[in-house]
Amino acid sequence: MPASLSVQDEILQLKRDRRAILLAHHYQEAEIQDLADCVGDSLELARRAREFDGDVIAFCGVWFMAETAKVLNPGRIVVVPDREASCSLVESCPVEPIRAYRQRHPDHVIVSYINTSVEVKAESDILCTSRNAVQVVNSIPPEKHILFLPDRNLGNYVQRMTGRKNMSIWQGTCVVHATFAARRLAAARMEHPNALVAAHPECPPEVLEQADFVGSTTAIIKYCVETKGDEFIVMTESGVAHSLKRLAPEKRFYFLPNDNCNCSECPYMKRNTLEKLRDCLQNLEPRVEVSEDLMRRALVPLERMLAIQ
Ligand code: 13P
Ligand code: SF4
Repeated sequence: MPASLSVQDEILQLKRDRRAILLAHHYQEAEIQDLADCVGDSLELARRAREFDGDVIAFCGVWFMAETAKVLNPGRIVVVPDREASCSLVESCPVEPIRAYRQRHPDHVIVSYINTSVEVKAESDILCTSRNAVQVVNSIPPEKHILFLPDRNLGNYVQRMTGRKNMSIWQGTCVVHATFAARRLAAARMEHPNALVAAHPECPPEVLEQADFVGSTTAIIKYCVETKGDEFIVMTESGVAHSLKRLAPEKRFYFLPNDNCNCSECPYMKRNTLEKLRDCLQNLEPRVEVSEDLMRRALVPLERMLAIQ
């Protein structure tokens, strides 16, 4: 590469050479979002991953999302800028207890949030994302017992929305959303009395109770852009500010710090940088490798979810 090229130019050049597509989650830093072919929530990115002609998917998000792209594209190379881009929900839910649960309760339906490892997906009956979790649970016959995993707050929210009685919920949490505090939200509402509140369902119930709207990252963006109102308190990762500012520059958006980092940034998502994206396109590493057996088994619950919405 000529020394005068910017990192952005290098990435675009490598993208052409590798016949690659760049998929970016809303929580990626703005410079990465600006280069992406698609910026979306986890459901949109899963759908987009299967709809292209190239050879390489550079997945700018976290590892479980890239694994999902690999399951949908077994013949393509899938790379992630940083191998350590994990997720606290994935880490809360190892596969062994799920296998043991399955053996003890073969008649229960395991509904796994997409924020799980490919091993856990392979043990699941159906997947869901924050966008379609209510529809997925409603698609299961009411007499069936459900194990919903791994996010406790999303599980409780879905249970409230569906009125489902026979549902066990794993006790994992998101390190970003679960540490948003109701007291901080209450103080922000006093400060901005005209602001509407939009929240991700991974937030605690006391936060969701104060929300005017609950939805996935893309749904939150759509709500803030399309709803009448000049001010919004946005209870999710601050990466979504980039799309909000572009789509509704005249509106004001307030992101609250959580009790974990006193910020609203996902430490896993933010491991990816422009330089690491360039290097992963150059080296085709770190690369997602999943055995054929695992891909075959994980595809079943994934396809069931994609057929629903
Ligand atoms: P979305 O389904 O809204 O993209 O959420 C994924 C995620 O990791 C939320 O923290
Ligand atoms: Fe996982 Fe939370 Fe980060 Fe989303 S924001 S990737 S759920 S740790």
